[in-house]
Amino acid sequence: MSAPVVVGIETSCDETGIGIVVGNELRANALASSVTEQARFGGVVPEVASRAHLEAMTPTIERACAEAGLHLSDVDAIAVTAGPGLVGSLLVGVATAKALGAALDRPVYGVNHLAAHVVVDELEHGPLPESVIGLLVSGGHTSLIAVGPQGIDPLGQTLDDAAGEAFDKVARLLDLPFPGGPAIDACARDGDPNAIDFPRGLAGAGLDFSFSGLKTAVLRWLTAQQGGSVRRADVAASFQEAVADVLSAKAIEACRATGVDHLVVGGGVAANSRLRALVTERAGAAGVHVRIPRPGLCTDNGAMVAALGARLVRAGQPPSPAAFPATSTMDVAQTVR
Ligand code: KG4
Ligand code: ZN
Repeated sequence: MSAPVVVGIETSCDETGIGIVVGNELRANALASSVTEQARFGGVVPEVASRAHLEAMTPTIERACAEAGLHLSDVDAIAVTAGPGLVGSLLVGVATAKALGAALDRPVYGVNHLAAHVVVDELEHGPLPESVIGLLVSGGHTSLIAVGPQGIDPLGQTLDDAAGEAFDKVARLLDLPFPGGPAIDACARDGDPNAIDFPRGLAGAGLDFSFSGLKTAVLRWLTAQQGGSVRRADVAASFQEAVADVLSAKAIEACRATGVDHLVVGGGVAANSRLRALVTERAGAAGVHVRIPRPGLCTDNGAMVAALGARLVRAGQPPSPAAFPATSTMDVAQTVR
């Protein structure tokens, strides 16, 4: 059989993503975002997001098909994010996938958004090695996982805020727009990362993370400066340095502890320029091969879902049962429903 055509549908948060892959080749990655509607609320309002998905779905599917030069009838399988995420948003994607599956008589795979953030790298850097450490850093999750032939082993996770959540909250403290990650990344370019010595949560203490103390430290620091002048770029750069320092140190430690010498970094925060540079530098020093998808594949998109779907099809995995649910929580070790 020639390489399967897989369409991936992503609606877990505020991006409507439709990706189309043929084998490992990315053919289309159409995206519609409700982020500008969300920005005035300073965060994602679930009801606004689900309505936006509903409006964007059909035009985004049409755009993806046009980009790929394919018709829906050419599709061999459908993959959709089944969780974790906002349940009303997920439902729009899952209902669309099931409708397409029924109309086209094709299998449907309800997949884990977090696994998709790791597997998407196959579209850019080719098949993943059999064993790899994944550092997953998004708006809702921060995890270290070991992906091996037996499945996925969770190694560590955040005990409080996710890394992206910390970026979004600190951006608000600095009067920077939502989403905070790209805004802090840009603002930090003019700042001194060593200006303020912000705490590194749980540094040297295992593979779990903590970012709420860092967020509070930024708030305290800003409060203490009241009346004085604050170099916002220095605060942004010093905060970003603290996050990138802990994430990269623990990712390399996970490789050392498990003896696995390949590391993949995925999720929206993997788009961060300082994190990318520091992980690459430290991996090089530790003899670890690091793979980070280009920024456009790190933040939520449909291609990542299609990439994971294609991998499941190749592995001969059975599709999800017809009644598979959309759920706000999904264990990081569970790839497919
Ligand atoms: O993976 P993602 O697009 O959505 C979720 O699954 O949550 O991640 C979104 C998160 C947001 O918190 C956003 O601020 C952060 O990723 N982010 C960044 C950057 N781009 C997006 N954080 C730091 N630096 C960036 N350049
Ligand atoms: Zn995500």
